[in-house]
Amino acid sequence: MTDVIIEQATDILRLNDRGSYTVPTSGLYPFQWNWDSALSALGFSHFDESRAWTEIDTLFAHQWEDGMVPHIIFHEEDDGYFPGPDVWQTNRPIPTSGITQPPVTGFAVKRMFDRALDRALAEERARALLPRIHAWHEWFFRCRDPEATGLVAIIHPWESGRDNSVDWDQPFAAVPTEGVEPLRRRDIQHADPSHRPTDDQYKRYIWLVQKFRSLGWDNAKLHDASPFKVVDPGFNAILLRSCADLADLADTLGEAEIAEASRNRVAVGIPALDALWSDTFGQFLCLDRCNGSLIQSPSIGGLLAAFAPISQERAVSLAKRIVDLSTRCGYLVPSHDPVAPEFDSLRYWRGPVWLIVNTMIANGLDQAGQGDVADQIRTDSVRLIRQSGFAEYYDPISAEPCGGEHFTWTAAMVIEILKLHGEKA
Ligand code: DGY
Repeated sequence: MTDVIIEQATDILRLNDRGSYTVPTSGLYPFQWNWDSALSALGFSHFDESRAWTEIDTLFAHQWEDGMVPHIIFHEEDDGYFPGPDVWQTNRPIPTSGITQPPVTGFAVKRMFDRALDRALAEERARALLPRIHAWHEWFFRCRDPEATGLVAIIHPWESGRDNSVDWDQPFAAVPTEGVEPLRRRDIQHADPSHRPTDDQYKRYIWLVQKFRSLGWDNAKLHDASPFKVVDPGFNAILLRSCADLADLADTLGEAEIAEASRNRVAVGIPALDALWSDTFGQFLCLDRCNGSLIQSPSIGGLLAAFAPISQERAVSLAKRIVDLSTRCGYLVPSHDPVAPEFDSLRYWRGPVWLIVNTMIANGLDQAGQGDVADQIRTDSVRLIRQSGFAEYYDPISAEPCGGEHFTWTAAMVIEILKLHGEKA
């Protein structure tokens, strides 16, 4: 059975492979997405190491001169997606979006390097990627943490990857909807509209794009000019984990400066992250940087903090919180607490389970010695696949498959889980 699932997952990766990059799923997402690619490369690495490295190389071939790695690369024309290059207007030879996404590449590259069978290839590719990934991390601290707090802000919900999380409802009140060009939404032609963000949210997404576009996508200006600036514990956990992993990789490759600079980021960032802890919820919360207050929203962003090298005490508390959530759903980990009034079991990041986040949380819990809860998360992930196939996300109560089908990163995470933990999952 395990072999059959791995075979099906491998077929999905091949189906969505466009040669040098992979689309998340055809139709809904017809280009290259940043964190999709980094995580999908982990899936490829189990059966084609060279192809896995190419996925990341292609992503970094489109890194901006200032160090940012964009969230979408529009390799080919496709009018089935909105907002396309005509809306972003980033003015690049191969068009890209103008914002970024969770920087999980440092983690992925270290993992691929550590387990590579082709050592010479791994060393060559990792060595070339190392300074580029480091430049991206440094871009974050320069452009998204101008006051050197140790944590970075996202300036658009799409940067978090958790587009319509309840976390953004309150800060979104500061983002207007007036003056937004007419929406030409395509996503709701490819996926059930009740699984997707609302028009009101889309207007605010596009307002921000228009605002940043009017500033010429100059990252020296965007952070301060944005009415949406949120410090997301999940996003920062990914960044800090990638910095820690990059430091280890840099040591192995004899790049002492990168190792030291990356380790310093972790040393400052982890205590700063701790200020986002909430005793009331027993998890981390987002901070609205525009008004300095914690957003009282128990989302999965605060659980994803487990992915960073946080203290043992916090990791144990997060494990407890996840066990508690398991009493209110059939499948871990719901992207929002089912008891919260905003919980919506089908709507994108307001309730559904996502396998990528599951894999990262489980990995963090393993590192903190919370393997039992990590195993429970992985077991639930595989149960979802057996029951509902390789969907984009799933209802955490009924296991209903949601969003796009034949989804690349879901397939990649299944390969990763079954290859590394097969027996237990
Ligand atoms: C979308 O289009 O739904 C993406 O999540 C934004 O990149």
